[in-house]
Amino acid sequence: MGAPARRALWILYVCFTALRTNALRVSMRESTVEVVRGDSVILPCSFFASSPLSRLNIIWTLAPFSNPESPIQVIVYDHGQIIEDPSLIGRVGFTGIPWSADIMVNDTQISDAGIYRCMVNNPPETADASIGELLLSVLVAPSLPACRWDGDMEAGGSVTLSCSVAEGVPTPEIRWDKLNPEEISLPINMEGELSGSVQIVNVSLQTSGLYRCSASNLLATVNCYINLSVYSAVAQSHSGILQGVLLTLSMSLMLLALLVLLAWLHRTSQDGRQRVSKEEEEEEEGYNEIRYTPSLMKRSFV
Ligand SMILES: *[C@@H]1O[C@H](CO)[C@@H](O)[C@H](O)[C@H]1NC(C)=O
Ligand SMILES: *[C@@H]1O[C@H](CO)[C@@H](O)[C@H](O)[C@H]1NC(C)=O
Ligand SMILES: *[C@@H]1O[C@H](CO)[C@@H](O)[C@H](O)[C@H]1NC(C)=O
Repeated sequence: MGAPARRALWILYVCFTALRTNALRVSMRESTVEVVRGDSVILPCSFFASSPLSRLNIIWTLAPFSNPESPIQVIVYDHGQIIEDPSLIGRVGFTGIPWSADIMVNDTQISDAGIYRCMVNNPPETADASIGELLLSVLVAPSLPACRWDGDMEAGGSVTLSCSVAEGVPTPEIRWDKLNPEEISLPINMEGELSGSVQIVNVSLQTSGLYRCSASNLLATVNCYINLSVYSAVAQSHSGILQGVLLTLSMSLMLLALLVLLAWLHRTSQDGRQRVSKEEEEEEEGYNEIRYTPSLMKRSFV
């Protein structure tokens, strides 16, 4: 028996069963539906009725994932009238009423995600299974992560790199990589689902480099970067040079002072002892100056 013949037989069987039991039947063509936030989605709900649809009544309810305890009536069709929930006005509508109970939701939001139930009644028909159920997931690309660093960039210090993402569905995976000299993945501590940090203890010059945090889910991967530069080793060698320069400078000054002292002593011995007292005072000042300079230098050096 061919496939078309089998399908015809199946349809006949369904019609016959429905007519015989006089029962309305709801069927969901899909049990889970995914949509990217902002896009439109059709939530399918088919039904088979055997009597006129003049008293058809359809109710779509939603138990949102964000608030499962408070289901809402998304949209209702009753005696030809349509009523929408205030939070969905202008965004939800039937697509094939009264022949199908499918609805379309436009500009989807995270709050639209949850369990939808489609209930169909067509009095006086009785119903075998008049309720269908489906799960709607609203997917969201990860938002741009925020990279931060905290700690001590001095060699021997420790630094914490942290990264956090505001949103993303499914929950984005967060990872940290050091990009140079070669790319390596770093061990991460998660703080909640949406932020992760890396602890680097005893930083050294080799710790410097570009670090990347990436947040990814099935929709997108987004990154932020931190450029670390450990500076203290460089600063230390600078201060070493400075100390050397100061030492040389003070030693040459002391040498100079010694030479001047020698020259003075030499001249005093040549000039003899007969001098004007005024001249002696002047030279006393000069001597004092010379004697104090090296000790001053010593003090500043210490
Ligand atoms: C949803 O969008 C479709 C296509 O843009 C449009 O035909 C339909 O009327 C919209 N539904 C509502 C309830 O605005
Ligand atoms: C820190 O790192 C330096 C070399 O990078 C090493 O000599 C030293 O022992 C380390 N200190 C500690 C406390 O691990
Ligand atoms: C990171 O910083 C270093 C030194 O400050 C600089 O030479 C390098 O170009 C920076 N790299 C990036 C990718 O910004």
